[in-house]
Amino acid sequence: MKIVVIGGTGLIGSKLVAKLDEQGHDAVAASPASGVNTLTGEGLPEVLEGAKVVVDVSNSPDWADDAVMHFFETSTRNLLAAETEAGVQHHVALSVVGTDRLTESGYFRAKLAQEQLIERSPIPYSIVHATQFYEFVKGIADEATDGNEVHLPPALFQPMAADDVAAGVARVAVGEPVNGIVEIAGPQQFRLDQLVRNLLNAAGDPREVVTDPQASYFGITPDERTLLPGDDARLADTRFEDWSNQHASAH
Ligand SMILES: NC(=O)c1ccc[n+]([C@@H]2O[C@H](COP(=O)([O-])OP(=O)(O)OC[C@H]3O[C@@H](n4cnc5c(N)ncnc54)[C@H](OP(=O)(O)O)[C@@H]3O)[C@@H](O)[C@H]2O)c1
Repeated sequence: MKIVVIGGTGLIGSKLVAKLDEQGHDAVAASPASGVNTLTGEGLPEVLEGAKVVVDVSNSPDWADDAVMHFFETSTRNLLAAETEAGVQHHVALSVVGTDRLTESGYFRAKLAQEQLIERSPIPYSIVHATQFYEFVKGIADEATDGNEVHLPPALFQPMAADDVAAGVARVAVGEPVNGIVEIAGPQQFRLDQLVRNLLNAAGDPREVVTDPQASYFGITPDERTLLPGDDARLADTRFEDWSNQHASAH
């Protein structure tokens, strides 16, 4: 089955293309690096020719409020229009657990706009909501850094390995469209401030994590359970400490 992966050169996209190929599918990585640009429409009709499924795991290069909204609205509109022309039968997109609860943030308003365009389109779809990637935890620290301090709320979250995200998206992509949301998450709950503190300590990073219930997390102030998935989430296997050990031994 021909499956086009928009954002197929990214963190999740490259793992997803490899997994689909291993399963014997014809997975095609599409992104500006391969001459396919969903913002301009360049290369879309050509790459979608003969595709049954399109998986969108692209991300905006610029997370400023206006830029990210422009990215997800324009690219999703262009993509859905080109898929309609090409007769694509399943549109799969990767989004974030809790997106509809996080709209104080411009990034999540843009992801919600992406989801709404997909829901309103006539193309059968599946939206995968994943929790934060383990690979992203350092980015959470960097975003919350002020001088030598990292201010974070003690909100619970249930992060997961990027490899498991790619496996979860692959499973949905080769299945029937659910015309709704599938949640995937990691096997353990942590508090944001505590996991970031552990990660920075383990890396010998001198920054100090300050627990602050009012601190902003990408423009929102999450309650204790805002970032958690629901009871029906599919849980991945890789535990944080195993990922962390594998990661450390890879360097
Ligand atoms: N970070 C998290 O913890 C988290 C959690 C849940 C869900 N997500 C979602 O996961 C998705 C993928 O994230 P990621 O970290 O894997 O992304 P990433 O590594 O930053 O990769 C982004 C991809 O988007 C492509 N891209 C950028 N502009 C494009 C354009 N105009 N047309 C087509 N492709 C374009 C890039 O292509 P080039 O390489 O050619 O530039 C790249 O392949 C995002 O939608 C994000 O919302 C993230």
